[in-house]
Amino acid sequence: MFKSRKQSLNKIQIFFLIFFFLEISNSCKQKSEVSTNSNGDAFIDELIGQMTLEEKIGQLNLVASSDFITGDFSATDISKKVREGKVGAILNIRSAERIRTVQQAAVEETRLGIPILFGLDIIHGYKTIFPIPLGLSCSFDLDMIEKTARIAAVESSADGLAWTYSPMVDVSRDPRWGRVAEGAGEDTYLGCLVAEAYVRGYQGDDQSANNTIMACVKHFAAYGDAEAGREYNTVDISKLTLFEYYLPPFKAAIDAGVGSLMTAFNEISGVPATSNKWLLRDLLREQWGFDGFTVSDYTSINELENHGVAADTSQAAELVIKAGVDMDMQGSAYLHYLKQLVEEGKITEDLIDQAVRRVIEAKMKLGLFDDPYKYCDEERVKIDIMNAEQLAAARESVAKSCVLLKNQNHTLPISKDVKSIAIIGPLGNSKKDMLGNWMAAGEPKKAVTLMEGMINKAGSCASVKWMEGCKVNDPDKSGFAEAVNLARQSDFVILALGEHGWMSGEAASRTDIGLPGVQNNLAEAVIKTGKPTAVVLFNGRPLTITKLDEIAPAILETWFGGTQAGNGIADVLFGDYNPSGKLTMTFPRSVGQVPIYYNHKNTGRPINPERPDFKYLSKYLDSPNDPLYPFGYGLSYTTFKYDGLSVEVEGDQINIRVKVSNTGDMDGEEVVQLYVQDNIGTITRPVKELKGFQKVMIKKGESRILTFTLTRDDLAFYHPDLTKNFEPGEFVVYVGGNSKDTVSEKIIIE
Ligand code: GLC
Repeated sequence: MFKSRKQSLNKIQIFFLIFFFLEISNSCKQKSEVSTNSNGDAFIDELIGQMTLEEKIGQLNLVASSDFITGDFSATDISKKVREGKVGAILNIRSAERIRTVQQAAVEETRLGIPILFGLDIIHGYKTIFPIPLGLSCSFDLDMIEKTARIAAVESSADGLAWTYSPMVDVSRDPRWGRVAEGAGEDTYLGCLVAEAYVRGYQGDDQSANNTIMACVKHFAAYGDAEAGREYNTVDISKLTLFEYYLPPFKAAIDAGVGSLMTAFNEISGVPATSNKWLLRDLLREQWGFDGFTVSDYTSINELENHGVAADTSQAAELVIKAGVDMDMQGSAYLHYLKQLVEEGKITEDLIDQAVRRVIEAKMKLGLFDDPYKYCDEERVKIDIMNAEQLAAARESVAKSCVLLKNQNHTLPISKDVKSIAIIGPLGNSKKDMLGNWMAAGEPKKAVTLMEGMINKAGSCASVKWMEGCKVNDPDKSGFAEAVNLARQSDFVILALGEHGWMSGEAASRTDIGLPGVQNNLAEAVIKTGKPTAVVLFNGRPLTITKLDEIAPAILETWFGGTQAGNGIADVLFGDYNPSGKLTMTFPRSVGQVPIYYNHKNTGRPINPERPDFKYLSKYLDSPNDPLYPFGYGLSYTTFKYDGLSVEVEGDQINIRVKVSNTGDMDGEEVVQLYVQDNIGTITRPVKELKGFQKVMIKKGESRILTFTLTRDDLAFYHPDLTKNFEPGEFVVYVGGNSKDTVSEKIIIE
């Protein structure tokens, strides 16, 4: 039974109190010599000096609870290992009560009573689940993204957790890869800003507070470039590409103060990330000065044997501790082999001490030595989890993450005079799918489905009926007739189509990224009735919905919206929120175009609209080059006009002004996007790159003059020698509501 905090002053706390008493009495004499930091360092030195080699290695061991399996889990008795001092951190235990029990074993039943760090994949909410990160990124609303992380931190830190394996900042240009759902899309500039927002949200400005948690930027590095979009596959890219596109979001998270970093499963051009000394020591520590701790991904140390760079787990452990990974997630490689490696003289104990120092420091910064139970706050659990304010924020985030892809003849918003609404499709009333992948402690039973959201919104004045029509991924069409019949009897039809939540996220690559099963056939049959119809998409990646785009009057992309999905989507469908989302990943016409992304190179034989029939150009025989929907694309219920673009170089600044007018009949938010093309370089440059955006509300009939300011540093890029420099010359500035439809101005910048 847990003793009260007062009674349970454990050894470490007594030690800490005596130590600080001595420090304070000491500091009275030597004020100038003792700083807060040296208190911390001195404490860590003192503690490490007390630790046996086994206890040190125990701190580097992260084990997974059987609460939630995210890999090849071998059942272990966690509490036994904890009591033996063999556990420094645990992932996947969820609840203050359970965590308190395990923490008690660590603090009160081990020799030094070092508290355990409890972590979980809290990547789009803890109990209140927000849209998947790819969806959130489409809001282009950094404050909102930060707020979702803040709420996740408040909720999870009440329930025992102090560490999240987020943000996932892997840039990716390949929608076959299921984990695009977890990131911020294909653009590096946006990826950096989103990474910072998550770190600010989780960590706040005081990691020792009891309602902030430590973030963990992942997966270092370039996991999103897995060949063929196949999960865990080989990454083979130039260092130039690595520095220009894949590394910056990690650097952004580190500059924002992220407390930890997770290595990736993949190799990078022959060297697995987890044993990559250049990546983890030369770049991460020496060049970037990262002072947090590093953790492997789930058994990624052991997997060096499969990679073929380690003959056995002992050699894998040796390679990885030398490369600079501090903590071993679920592999027990460190636990089983580091002591022997020290005894054999293959590694020094000092190497282990360096890793232990960073882990202990992280725990100290979180305040775990002051109060190991600070995050197990049953009182806060009652008031700080899924409260009205948090649910309202979730609902708003759903609406802001939606992207209106098509809206012929103002099919949407649905008129409030509609008397009967048919929701047809397998995603129309599915609670579990609304939470998407990595649902942390989210509860499907508390998710609002599309049908429920529509009933909440319109149920008092319209009949709302749902019919499945078909399964997500099944050839059975026997439900079509009934569904078509329901459509015929209704004033408005919503087709709720897409993927299951588990069809994206980890271990969820797809070779065909179209609508699964017979959903296209169902859509065709229902749309043929001629009823006003809108497709509502639920998916974790760009889909090749070319056929659907041809026949559907309206398409609303909603991703997996989380706990408040149905309510937020209903707000958009009825126009209570005018959709403002913009795609952060290109939607291909076909999977054959992949990888396809907006900031591509021009090539030596770009297609030439004036010579459409000339054969010898960079194009396909069977498809246009352009995507179905480009990066940055998203419609509104109103329309916006761009004009009056001016670009002036004034000293160190490049000042861009543009007039944006709301030419429609509804107030609306617009994400005004700024792109720049560097026409001539000493190396080839993308046809355009996002260099700024502003999300602004413009009332109907009104205009806004927006200004952007760039510097030459903003236009610098990496060179083959890996220096980053600006090159003067001719540029083109583009401004618009997406990456394709823009106004532009050429400018010389010296
Ligand atoms: C997984 C994932 C990683 C996650 C970890 C812990 O395999 O790759 O993103 O944080 O295991 O669940």
